[in-house]
Amino acid sequence: MTALKFVHVVGARPQFVKYHGLDLVLSKLPGVETQLIHTGQHYDYLMSKVFFDQLGLKQPDHHLGIGSGLPGQQTATALERIEAVLNADRPAAVIAYGDTNSTLAGAMAASKLHIPVAHVEAGLRSGNKQMPEEINRILTDHVSTLLFCPSETAAANLAREGFPPTLQQQRPTIDSPRVVISGDIMYDVLLNSMKLAETDSTVMNRLNVSPGEYDVLTLHRAESTDQARDMDRLIDFVNRATVDAPTVIFPIHPRTRKAYQQATHRFSDRVQIVDPLSYFDFMVLLKNASRLFTDSGGLQKEAYWLRVPCITLRHETEWLETVASGWNTLYADYSETNRPSRTTETAAYGDGNAGERIARELVEAFR
Ligand code: UD1
Repeated sequence: MTALKFVHVVGARPQFVKYHGLDLVLSKLPGVETQLIHTGQHYDYLMSKVFFDQLGLKQPDHHLGIGSGLPGQQTATALERIEAVLNADRPAAVIAYGDTNSTLAGAMAASKLHIPVAHVEAGLRSGNKQMPEEINRILTDHVSTLLFCPSETAAANLAREGFPPTLQQQRPTIDSPRVVISGDIMYDVLLNSMKLAETDSTVMNRLNVSPGEYDVLTLHRAESTDQARDMDRLIDFVNRATVDAPTVIFPIHPRTRKAYQQATHRFSDRVQIVDPLSYFDFMVLLKNASRLFTDSGGLQKEAYWLRVPCITLRHETEWLETVASGWNTLYADYSETNRPSRTTETAAYGDGNAGERIARELVEAFR
């Protein structure tokens, strides 16, 4: 019997985590073989290899070394190189994650070769097409055959864009795609890793912080960092909102490190800039934080699961449930009287078994 072969495409930090959650289950199923393409979109040790080392990921079968560049060039280079790999070695389906340029490149390369695409984290919408991620999500969803939604909201977004309900018996195709509410794969990884992270990580000692006595800040999106005036506005907001915090730990993305040199405003002395952190270190730091300030998508959910109030440094969010539950507040809505609050609700994105569901659907659909 020939193996049922799936190819994962990853390239950026959060995708290593999502891939890990799924491949842990998928690659163990009888008759299944998986391969990994790393586009090389993220390439610094702290942006890529540290995740492979820490999570015990196998080396990529293909490392495409695309590096940084203008969005079109980065996507095009990835598309061309992924196409060459897939063309030589046709899998039953390609699995793409999230909303990065690597996601779109993987989905385009596969769909043009008539290889089905499975999109993990499908159906997310911010309603803001100025974000490169929004374009990547929409285009990826619309060439996908299996769409794995982390929430009911995501599935409803797809229904609004014309994705028909598929009969379970029918074999899904690109023209007759199947939408599945699987829950969020990042939750699986968080639940499985927290114990090990807490024994393994020395981050609290290294950064000399105590539980509940500091805030965490992250900032990396193009719309936060590309224009100096946007960056200045966010710097001012963070300075004001953290005026009573003893310390704000800011693991800085390389893009933001460069942008900060161009910004005219400065963070207050409370803000301690540190190198990007590994997955375990970040989860431990976040779990013990009193608040998170972020423009990341994934971290809004991780704060929600770890029950840390979050202030999102954006004008909108795809993760509406985190706001509806009270854990998350958009920064424009934030005030003395409207702060994120500690509630009990943290169940909007499934039960931590997304990997099992996705793996089962993949095998059923493409066997
Ligand atoms: C990308 C994703 C974003 C995701 C993020 C996760 C797109 C459009 N954006 O954003 O959705 O949330 O990854 O972290 O795909 N750089 C380095 N070393 C690296 C990687 C990047 O120095 O290893 C610098 C380069 O100057 C590069 C810049 O960071 O130009 C931006 O990197 P890029 O991969 O284009 O986008 P991210 O901001 O990381």
